[in-house]
Amino acid sequence: MTWTPPVLTNDASKPAAYAALQTSLTELLHGEPDLLANAANTSALLFHLLPDLNWAGFYFLQESTLVLGPFQGKPACTRIPLDRGVCGAAASQRQTLIVPDVQAFAGHIACDADSRSEIVVPLLQNDRLLGVLDLDSPVPGRFDADDARGLKAVVQIFLNASTPRE
Ligand code: SME
Repeated sequence: MTWTPPVLTNDASKPAAYAALQTSLTELLHGEPDLLANAANTSALLFHLLPDLNWAGFYFLQESTLVLGPFQGKPACTRIPLDRGVCGAAASQRQTLIVPDVQAFAGHIACDADSRSEIVVPLLQNDRLLGVLDLDSPVPGRFDADDARGLKAVVQIFLNASTPRE
């Protein structure tokens, strides 16, 4: 594996930071098709490079339930039905959801009491829902449209590199 961590200055704009992160992720996942290995490295990269996160990780769809995958942060709930939580809503609507205040989201599942805002991006490969990427922050309103764009690109890099499990 050849991988150089990106150097991000504190004053880098969000789009510039995501561009550096995406280059780094492409390099990190290059030549590795294993979905779980790539999910583990993707969550580690996001957690260590993006500021103000307390959780970053994956849930994978298994028979209509989202099951916990690789992540960084405190231990989390293992199974989320599609009609529950921000993760379930993003998965069933097949849309990225930004929740600026998790306490105002009916049905939010509090895995870590420190979480104040959240973004969830569905994993869609040729219209097949594989799961979601979920990021939590202790800062209210932490995620915006730049994060949604940046993380959708991150998901695409992850999916392009990885062979889905049957
Ligand atoms: N808050 C999520 C549950 C997963 S944890 O944040 C890791 C939700 O409401 O779906």
